[in-house]
Amino acid sequence: MMKATARAHTNIALVKYWGKKDPTLMLPQTDSLSLTLDRFYTTTSVEFDPTSAADQIQIDQAPAAPNVAQRVSQFLDLVRPQGCFARVASVNNVPMAAGLASSASAFAALAAAASWAQGLHPSRTELSRLARRGSGSATRSIFGGLVEWHAGHDDQSSFAEPIQEHVDFGLEMLAILLDTRQKKIGSRRGMQHVVATSPYYPTWREVVAHDMAAMKLAIAAQDIDQIGHLAQTNALRMHALNLAADPGFTYFNAATLKAMETIDHLRETGVSCYYTMDAGPNVKVIYDRRDRETILTALTPQFGADHLVVAKPGPGVEKLTDER
Ligand code: PMV
Repeated sequence: MMKATARAHTNIALVKYWGKKDPTLMLPQTDSLSLTLDRFYTTTSVEFDPTSAADQIQIDQAPAAPNVAQRVSQFLDLVRPQGCFARVASVNNVPMAAGLASSASAFAALAAAASWAQGLHPSRTELSRLARRGSGSATRSIFGGLVEWHAGHDDQSSFAEPIQEHVDFGLEMLAILLDTRQKKIGSRRGMQHVVATSPYYPTWREVVAHDMAAMKLAIAAQDIDQIGHLAQTNALRMHALNLAADPGFTYFNAATLKAMETIDHLRETGVSCYYTMDAGPNVKVIYDRRDRETILTALTPQFGADHLVVAKPGPGVEKLTDER
């Protein structure tokens, strides 16, 4: 029996990844940059059992849906000893599939637990490459704080690297939970459709190259206002790709638009705050922690305290137990 447990935190991209150039190796079209969050994470145990005849996969204390179980088994095939099945138990402290990047924390934790359960000691770069094969954004969740994913051109060259693991200059994110149901269009399908049909895609590659450079300068200057401005602009341009696809689509719903309007209005009244959205309707607010109370006070009447979750920069993947 070989068992290990890992915990990994979600990350939210400030410069988004939206499109693959190699769907098998999960090589992205562009670089991307994210903040790992302390508040949302996945804890996953993997136990290889040579006597078992099939994988047993539990997510949040229930058997995984067949499509999810298949994705986990295919991922395990990348690392497991031949013919050795596993018991996987994964608990999410993040609403699944609602654009809060549960697949990032899930596959980062699974990559680490599956490796450690075999007594392997991969470097974090190696874990980052492996996590990438489960979900692109998981590449970045191996590391804490501000993280850059180098798109690369093959398996070796596509991995993440921390820009600043301990973020101590006040950068925070607040999630506005508007709809925690499963999204209708998964990120895999959404981005594939966009690469194939959105006429703005070539421009997006140029946008990201510019935003990566500008974002790194803003981080070096610890300029939260500029980080927020660049992140909001980048997010809107990513979502513009979806609207311009054929057929066009969007992850926004009416509540998303209302939240965007509220944040824009708050900023116009002098509070430095910006928004970003991923493959779901929820909105994440980017701000300096000194403005946290002002922002919470402004948002609570509209969204309710239960729907506002403050997140600080979080750590990289951690080993919780090591039973061998
Ligand atoms: O890792 P995936 O396949 O869930 O894609 C994530 C894509 C975005 O969250 C929208 C952007 C990003 O860079 O995380």
